[in-house]
Amino acid sequence: MAYEKIPDSVIEAVLKHHDIVETVGKYVHLSKHGKYMKGLCPFHSEKSPSFTVTPEKGIFYCYGCGKGGNAIKFIEEIEEYSFPEAIRIMAEEANIPITWSGSQERQQSADGGDRDTLIEAHELSVKLYHYLLMNTTHGQTALQYLRNRGVTDKQIDHFMIGYAPPEWDTLTRFLEKREYNLALMEKGGLLIAKQDKSGYIDRFRDRIMFPIWNRDGKVIALAGRMLGEGQPKYLNSPETMLFNKSRNLYNFHHARTAMRKSRRIVLFEGYMDVIKAWSAGVHNGVASMGTALTEEHASILQRNVEEAVLCYDGDNAGQAAALKTIPLLERVGLRVQVAMLPRGMDPDEYIEKHGADAFMRETIEHPVSATKFRLLYAKKNHILLEEEGQKNYLLEAVGIIAVLDSPTEREFYLKELSREFDMSLDSLKQDCFDRRQQLQKMKPQRDNNDNSWNNGRNENRENRRTSSAPPVLPAYQVAERKLLAQMLQDADTANTVHQKLGEAFNVEDHAALAAYLYAYYAQGHDPDVSRFIASLQDSRLERTAASILMTDDDIPFDEHLLADYVNEILKVPKFREIEQMKEAMVRAERSGDMLKAAQIAIEMNALERQLKGRQDDRF
Ligand code: CTP
Ligand code: MN
Repeated sequence: MAYEKIPDSVIEAVLKHHDIVETVGKYVHLSKHGKYMKGLCPFHSEKSPSFTVTPEKGIFYCYGCGKGGNAIKFIEEIEEYSFPEAIRIMAEEANIPITWSGSQERQQSADGGDRDTLIEAHELSVKLYHYLLMNTTHGQTALQYLRNRGVTDKQIDHFMIGYAPPEWDTLTRFLEKREYNLALMEKGGLLIAKQDKSGYIDRFRDRIMFPIWNRDGKVIALAGRMLGEGQPKYLNSPETMLFNKSRNLYNFHHARTAMRKSRRIVLFEGYMDVIKAWSAGVHNGVASMGTALTEEHASILQRNVEEAVLCYDGDNAGQAAALKTIPLLERVGLRVQVAMLPRGMDPDEYIEKHGADAFMRETIEHPVSATKFRLLYAKKNHILLEEEGQKNYLLEAVGIIAVLDSPTEREFYLKELSREFDMSLDSLKQDCFDRRQQLQKMKPQRDNNDNSWNNGRNENRENRRTSSAPPVLPAYQVAERKLLAQMLQDADTANTVHQKLGEAFNVEDHAALAAYLYAYYAQGHDPDVSRFIASLQDSRLERTAASILMTDDDIPFDEHLLADYVNEILKVPKFREIEQMKEAMVRAERSGDMLKAAQIAIEMNALERQLKGRQDDRF
């Protein structure tokens, strides 16, 4: 594997620099409980905290979902990085020189380093455009345009907004001078080939430039807006080896920390909305770019948050888009709410007109439920002043309510309708009931079609939610865990256990951990659980190790306890043997071979006596 080349010293330095509490604290609100810190698990949905961090050992562990490991593992899990990716990012942050041949080289061998070169060129281009906007007379009009729209210099810096001048070759010459392969730059969407193939010109001219980042904060594409009205208003980078618009969301990397903490995302339609809302205090806002939200977007969001707030334009197109987006998000298991804007306004305009406070207070902080939104949306299609319109709306509304799984929710909305239109709740309920029966009949078909791709995921969510207290373990498993906990923190214990027990742990993962641990100490390492975990590179073992370390207690460990544990562990194969003998005996009896059955019984008794004797010895 490529990442075997990452030097131990780097892993050590990364772990040393990235304190577990600090690392986790960026994503999870932790509070102190004795030796532990506790918080709500970022990996599964829960209401009371079962996510634990032990600062002293440098590890985290969740009792609810079983995820656990050291700081590197945490970043791997939460950012969805591979081990080498996580190490790389963490090393970069800590200014640890990246000298090993890890993930980067792997990428390079796959595409000759084109991706890295292109990213570098994008980042340089962004800097150039930003410089031109802020510091040159070419950028003055654009800068004025932005300021007129209420974009502050702080926002311009934060979002690295720039300006591409009207000339044909500003960027082309800039990149050429730096010896970039222009054909590659064209492939990456920065340049366009001239019609007669005699060379290249800039793709973006006389436009306000917005860099588009990937989840790691690397620039992978650009969007250019016209200064005034005209077509096309926005020009985005094409799909390239770096940029896939159905998978990327604008501002995702900035929004990550906030969305992870709040478990919530706010979805906007436009770049400008995200930027303005950011300054108003919405730090978990993103937007899709020149495309409706896709299933891929939804599944990326599902991994990061539990709730999505749609804040789309208040015009018909925006509201229709919201209506289409809701089921997409619901299908991956997200709770959806809608922040309503006055008719015809987009978030940017609202903030300009009413201010940031009003925006937060009146829209973002008071979204309506998806059902409520559907009802409001349906209402607009009916003329409620006419009886016919009222009746039709009521029937449509009942249809919207009928699909809700929760009887309480159904009743809640039906009651609201009954109040609003002075209808009897009973008749609404009856209609709702009939509608549900119709739905029931249609259901098998629906399940086979649009829902099937996602069944596994939802099931998973449900399971995770209902996962309960840890199971009571049999004594030998407890013994194995207690021994390992001590062995992980003390080389002498590991040595003794090595002699007495070797790898004869009964649980496969425990045996594996013991074997790795013996090897780890044999290489001359001192006890260091976080480092040891880093050396495993096996998620299951890492979790097991973390969970073992979390459950250790303060009973003083001594050689008697050690002997007891070893005994408990060695007993298991004997008991298993006895069980097998019992089965063999029953088989022999059944087949009429009484002599064989008697022989087995004798052996079995001897073994049982031997086991008892050993147990008695201890007292
Ligand atoms: N969009 C696009 N290409 C266009 C028009 C729109 O890619 N020709 C995308 C952009 O991502 C844009 C979003 O659709 O941000 C929403 O479009 P729109 O509401 O028209 O633009 P705003 O973001 O509101 O931009 P502005 O406020 O500057 O008009
Ligand atoms: Mn707008």
